[in-house]
Amino acid sequence: MRRKTQSALGTVAMLVVAAACAPNATQSALEPAGPYAQKSYDLFVPVFWVAAVIFVVVEGALVLFAFRYRHRSGREGIPPQVHGNTRLEIAWTILPAVILAGVAVPTVAGIFELARDPGPGALDVRVLGHQWWWEFDYPEQVGLNERIVTANELHIPTGRPVYLTLCAVGAGYGGAPTPSECQPGPPEGGPSATLGAAVIHSFWPPELAGTQDVIPGRVNHMILEADEPGTYEGQCKEFCGLSHTYMRFTVVAHTPEDFERWVADQQAPAAPPDGAAADGLQVFLEAGRAGCTECHAIAGLRDPSGEMIRGSNNAPDLTHFASRECFAGCIFENNDENLRRWLDDPPAMKPGSLMPDYDLTPEQIEQLIAFLNTLE
Ligand code: CUA
Repeated sequence: MRRKTQSALGTVAMLVVAAACAPNATQSALEPAGPYAQKSYDLFVPVFWVAAVIFVVVEGALVLFAFRYRHRSGREGIPPQVHGNTRLEIAWTILPAVILAGVAVPTVAGIFELARDPGPGALDVRVLGHQWWWEFDYPEQVGLNERIVTANELHIPTGRPVYLTLCAVGAGYGGAPTPSECQPGPPEGGPSATLGAAVIHSFWPPELAGTQDVIPGRVNHMILEADEPGTYEGQCKEFCGLSHTYMRFTVVAHTPEDFERWVADQQAPAAPPDGAAADGLQVFLEAGRAGCTECHAIAGLRDPSGEMIRGSNNAPDLTHFASRECFAGCIFENNDENLRRWLDDPPAMKPGSLMPDYDLTPEQIEQLIAFLNTLE
């Protein structure tokens, strides 16, 4: 018996250690890194301790009574009963009601505070939940004279609230019409997007904010802010299909000056490549049925007929692909080795990926990588 208990305790200890060693150990709501996450944390701590005290009292009483009134030989009948004791029943009805009301006051106040309009100083970003990656879309606004589109990486300035508009999109969605705020803006006169296999996602950057559901046909909002520059990890928190677990993202917080530099870089169009990269562009234009351009946009480049490469809005805009730290739902670090694995067979790397396996030759893959590396 003792050995069994020891091995059970050993297993639990190993699980705790393993959980602590998980690569995303920093992805913790218990380490708030901005005012909005801090507000949630400040609510969580007192509620946790209230719950902890109640747990100890209730479980303690349970164990105590089970022990105190256990069956023993020589003991006859049942212990004295308290059923119908009016004073006790009133007490244990009122006490929980008072505790819950006490917890509700700061909680409800916090909900309203977190949802308050952050005012005109906020940065507007649209978050589009695709299956299974995040698009971050910066509409024209004060300080941004052009639209920016990126994937899997949300770049923000520190010390400034970021007002997110969250929408679910995807190809082939036949349900509710998509609100205009969620229509993916066509890149400069491109086709307007088909709204897709849109399903419910949930956006969760634990160190910067709470979670917000991303629902087809609805527009939700959320505000986040980072105090210090750095990279904060996040992920989709609502089961949304095959690659739900691969639907990650990072929030990269820059100092305001660095953020301006990033904005300027992102607004520059791509430059025509040469050498191996030019061969890569050819592969990009010709791969598969209608080229990678059937889905992926690259601002600044044109196809052989002189058309802009506009893509379909159902795949990441690759104009600044090489500037990104990660790709494919942020499951891969952006390097040659990972690109090689990815381009060889995307659906094998990320189940359900809309990006097909085009049976590219190793040479074509190297050319494509050379081309992608020029897209800074
Ligand atoms: Cu998107 Cu889970």
